[in-house]
Amino acid sequence: MYSIAIDGPAGSGKGTVAKGLANKLNFLYVDTGAMYRATGLYFIKNNISLDDEKSINANLDKIDIKLKYKDNKTTVYLNQEDVSLEIRTEECSRAASKVGVYEKVRENLVRMQKEYAKTNNIVMEGRDIGTVVLPNANLKIYLTASCEERARRRYIEQKEKGLELTYEEVLKDIKERDYRDMHREISPLKQADDAILVDSTDMTIDEVINEILKYRKVRD
Ligand code: DC
Repeated sequence: MYSIAIDGPAGSGKGTVAKGLANKLNFLYVDTGAMYRATGLYFIKNNISLDDEKSINANLDKIDIKLKYKDNKTTVYLNQEDVSLEIRTEECSRAASKVGVYEKVRENLVRMQKEYAKTNNIVMEGRDIGTVVLPNANLKIYLTASCEERARRRYIEQKEKGLELTYEEVLKDIKERDYRDMHREISPLKQADDAILVDSTDMTIDEVINEILKYRKVRD
């Protein structure tokens, strides 16, 4: 099996890049952020405080998350309900980042993620893929961009969805999320020693994909 691990902060373009790569290579695409988002959503829906680690741990076995793939689209199911759209709100991004600090939450999801890679050629994206989930990945990319550029991309995305957020609010949110994701005790976001750094600040999605495909050839 061949695996490509893509890690990086919010708004670096890793989702679009990973999806594009998976399509080109005919590999399975796994969005691990969607799994943390669905977990966060479960606790929001059930009025369990995201600060209450004890209650969160006690309820983890009630959460069933499935990613299904059809016609190049991922559908995310939380206890058999399609939550693909619901998990894309800013509230869910924040909840995902908050529940992602807990050891038991991560153990649960990492186990599922490792399973995908056993039986599929894969492009997996997240925060800890190259460091924890797939430490032996064939190719590891750490994709980043400046804070301001990432906020600009998120702001445009949110506006297209008709959401009323200011650029400053999006920037603040991105900075907070970066801080939490990079400073948590367990599996913080960081570049793996053997990952290639790609800065997408001044690059289009296609340029990033082509650069990664070049690395793939060089490394093989
Ligand atoms: O990739 P994303 O923005 O959809 O991820 C949402 C949050 O989930 C992110 O801020 C931190 C958490 N996450 C994580 O802790 N580990 C991962 N592998 C993926 C996401």
